[in-house]
Parts: sequence; C-alpha cells; structure tokens
Amino acid sequence: MIVSVVSQKGGVGKSSISAALIRALIKRGKRVCAIDLDVQGSLTHLIAPTIDATRTTRWLAGVPVDPVVISSNLSCFGATAKLNSLEQDYVKVPGGANVLQRRLARMKRNFDVVVIDTAAGLGGWVVAAMYAADHIVSPCLLEPLSLDALKGFVKVRNQVVDASGHMVKTWIVPNRFDRRIRGQTHILQALIGMNLGEVTPPIPTCSAVNNAMSALNFVDALSLGRAEAYFDHLSLQLLQANNAVNSTLVSKDSTIVNV
Ligand SMILES: Nc1ncnc2c1ncn2[C@@H]1O[C@H](COP(=O)(O)OP(=O)(O)OP(=O)(O)O)[C@@H](O)[C@H]1O
Ligand SMILES: [Mg+2]
Repeated sequence: MIVSVVSQKGGVGKSSISAALIRALIKRGKRVCAIDLDVQGSLTHLIAPTIDATRTTRWLAGVPVDPVVISSNLSCFGATAKLNSLEQDYVKVPGGANVLQRRLARMKRNFDVVVIDTAAGLGGWVVAAMYAADHIVSPCLLEPLSLDALKGFVKVRNQVVDASGHMVKTWIVPNRFDRRIRGQTHILQALIGMNLGEVTPPIPTCSAVNNAMSALNFVDALSLGRAEAYFDHLSLQLLQANNAVNSTLVSKDSTIVNV
C-alpha cells in the first residue's frame, strides 16, 4: 500500500502526520518504507536525521538500490538536495508523471506500506506521488485559506485519477483542530459539507498528531477497509464532543468561545 501525504498549502502538518502514521504502522508490526520528497527534509529530520541521502538520488535516477535500513521495520529514502534537478530530468519529461510509480513497483514486494511525504504545492514530485498512491492523505487547517487551497488540490487529484485510470482513495484530515478557537467548528462543518466529488469526506481531526490512539485509528481506517464507518462514527463523536465542550466553555465564561 502506498500512502502519499499531499497538500497545496504549506505548514498544515504533512510531515507530522507522515511521521505519526509511520510510528503507528511500525507499532502494528508493519514493514514501512518512508520516502521524503521535500527538499526541506522535515520527515527525514523527524525519523532519520543522520541518514545518507545519496541513495535516494540514485534510486530516483533509476538505479535499483534499496532504501536505508533505520530499524528492523523501518527503511527510508531521506530527502536529497538534488530533488529539483531530478524533477527536471525525470518528472517534467513526457510521461514522467508516473516515474515514481515505476520506481516503486519493485519495492511494493518488500514493504507493507510506503509513506511518501511531499513538499507543499502541486509540483512535479507531488503529482508523481499522487500517481503512485493507493491512498492520498491531505491535511488541512480549519481556516478559510486552507479550504480554498483544498479546492485546488481536489482539482489536480481528479486530473491525476482520470489520467492514471485507477481509483485513489483520498482523505482530507483536518489538523490542529482547537475547539477554543473561534469559528473552527463552523469551518469544520463547511468542510464536511463541501462537495468534493469522489474525495472521501473529511475524517476527524488529528488535533494531537502525537496522540497514538488517533494515529492508530487512522491507520486502521486506511488498512482495514473500514473507512466509511470510521468517518461516520468519529465525525459524529467529534462534533458531539465539540458541542459539549463549547457549551461548557460558554457557560463558564462567555468570552472564551462563541461558536
Ligand atoms: N496536530 C498538531 N498539533 C500541534 N502542532 C502541530 C500539529 N501538526 C503540525 N504541528 C506543527 O506545525 C508545524 C508545521 O507542521 P509540519 O512541518 O508537519 O507541516 P507541513 O505541512 O509538513 O509543512 P511544509 O509545508 O513546510 O512541509 C510544525 O511546527 C509542527 O510541529
Ligand atoms: Mg513538511
């Protein structure tokens, strides 16, 4: 299974959610390969700060090398400074959008899950990661600009699905939900109500990415095919919990929250 973590907007939690997913998968005994396709290297810093990334450069160039082994169940292709020039050479050429899919074909046998963290935006490597994905996870902050960016992401995602011809399950993950922040509940409801076509409605917030339970539940939903039930159940829980907390806060001090 290949999971690509993608968003048009920066700083929404792609690398944090990638790392949380990786931790949860390893905890479940899955063999995981992490791939950092962001030259910024946040995921690499989080999981394998001292990794030698020259192997990534060679792999992306088509040499059949294995990722670096980090621990018994985790291997990694760390971020390489050459991502931009490699994008020019291998992605931005005719037919280049599926380059990652081709590179990953061999690795699919060696790992249960490949988690790909991408740079913000919808550039060449990001589109290639969407082409390769079985699941796309797109974190989103509960603010108007994030919702606008989501529409751009969904448009490109739909183009990728049309061009690649295979169905890619897509998850919008509201991140950093804070029920004390004015208006976030309304934005969450707007997000749930948005017509995003085939894209799965948003799953509940990962308000604490390091919360092992939320990461584990999320992994269950991804890997055990219980996606719809998971969303229905937890979104309801989220909204109910949110309403309960809001009314408590409002009754204690009406200036804290008024949503
Ligand atoms: N749920 C969360 N709770 C608290 N802090 C968070 C949460 N998610 C992300 N952060 C923090 O927000 C910042 C941005 O997160 P992160 O680097 O994961 O985002 P990103 O989408 O990968 O950013 P970029 O677009 O730059 O790659 C980091 O400082 C991270 O620690
Ligand atoms: Mg990042």
